[in-house]
Amino acid sequence: MSNGPAKLALFPLTSELNDGGHLCVGGCDVISLAHEFGTPLYLFDEYTIRHKCREFKSEFSRYFSDASILYASKAFLNKALARIIKEEGLGLDVVSGGELYIARAVDFPMDKVYFHGNNKTPQELEMALEWNIGRVVVDNFYEIDLLNRLTKERGIQQDVLLRLTPGVDPHTHQHTTTGTLDSKFGFPISTGQAGEAVRQVMSSSNLNLRGLAFHLGSPIFEAQPYELAAEIVLRFAREMEGKYSFSASELDIGGGFAVQYTREKEAPDIAHYAQTISKRVNELLSELKLGRLQLIAETGRAIVAQAGVALYTAGAIKDIPDVRKYVCVDGGMNDNVRPPLYGAKYEALVANRASEEEDELVTIAGKLCESGDVLVRDVKLPSVTSGDIIAIPVCGAYSLSMASNYNAIPRPAIAMAREGKALLIRQRESYQNLVALDT
Ligand code: LLP
Repeated sequence: MSNGPAKLALFPLTSELNDGGHLCVGGCDVISLAHEFGTPLYLFDEYTIRHKCREFKSEFSRYFSDASILYASKAFLNKALARIIKEEGLGLDVVSGGELYIARAVDFPMDKVYFHGNNKTPQELEMALEWNIGRVVVDNFYEIDLLNRLTKERGIQQDVLLRLTPGVDPHTHQHTTTGTLDSKFGFPISTGQAGEAVRQVMSSSNLNLRGLAFHLGSPIFEAQPYELAAEIVLRFAREMEGKYSFSASELDIGGGFAVQYTREKEAPDIAHYAQTISKRVNELLSELKLGRLQLIAETGRAIVAQAGVALYTAGAIKDIPDVRKYVCVDGGMNDNVRPPLYGAKYEALVANRASEEEDELVTIAGKLCESGDVLVRDVKLPSVTSGDIIAIPVCGAYSLSMASNYNAIPRPAIAMAREGKALLIRQRESYQNLVALDT
């Protein structure tokens, strides 16, 4: 076994090269897995997922006396993953009846589930109340009215948080910026609407306002926007304590913790976020004379991104002299829309020849009928031939969860590797699946 090229550091924590120059993850040769399960194959490393869960818990608890970590399931959720998150003792952030349903399917403790979303339907809220969900993170006035009505009808009390828009720019892609004033999410503080929301919820006999939440965007490569937002929201909490005798017992700082996708752009480590944010929140609590509260972080990408590798088989290779060499693979923007949608950048490795010198510049394109269907532009690889297995690291978050059937391409199979064994955790979709719901 060897450490291989520098880009191996982007792959799951258990990654290594075997004597045949094959990439191995979780003790499994990915080339054998590609042959066994077919490609495109998304392979997760169980060790990396568990390690990240533990790191979040231990780092936030190190710096904040009462910290709670939720996994933001929108990054990727299926039953196998939900079970791991449950075993690791994290809570769960869900944003739809579907995510809630998957949680319930593995008996996820409902008191640890937080329901986010800017337009929860009456049916989704009914489902959440029926299953005794821990918190509803209320996003707008329509939802306050709706939740008031539904809880009254049931004669129950529901714990809620209010999602606020603090007006802080997290310096990330516009499509994933959420904490600024012009956003569809949350109650803006600067317009007075957040104050009005606190008033309404405090005067509601069925809603129990536990605390305040914000989420600035994703990915956020600095801790400073969180510090700024915490200050704005805690000053607001101080004001609300005076006005409506509301005392916050929870502060939810959202997610957005960045990960490293390419060799060029590093991300802060979890400890840095945990230490910087906790320190600022602690300072503010004493400066503003606020009571002790629970600090909640909701992290999706930073738990699963590095744990996931996308494996494809190279097919057509098109070399345009003096212009570009395209290596076309058997997946593309239907399983990972992040490059065309956000201009997301990735690295790649020829997984069956991973110890060979990488001296040819190529572009990895998908098989879908759009010129924008490019997964990795300008990456150095050993000269690729048809049939090679191309591995793209850091694909565990927001690839599968945003996958589609564009061009009627079945969604990929997903496997989970652990200590030399890999199990399918979701079958590859079939052509029959594509027509199964047609009437
Ligand atoms: N909490 C809330 C309320 C959120 O909206 C999100 C993500 C998270 C937590 C988790 O953020 P994370 O820790 O995973 O960064 N599709 C985009 C990312 C969209 C994020 C949406 N909200 C992408 O592929 O980059």
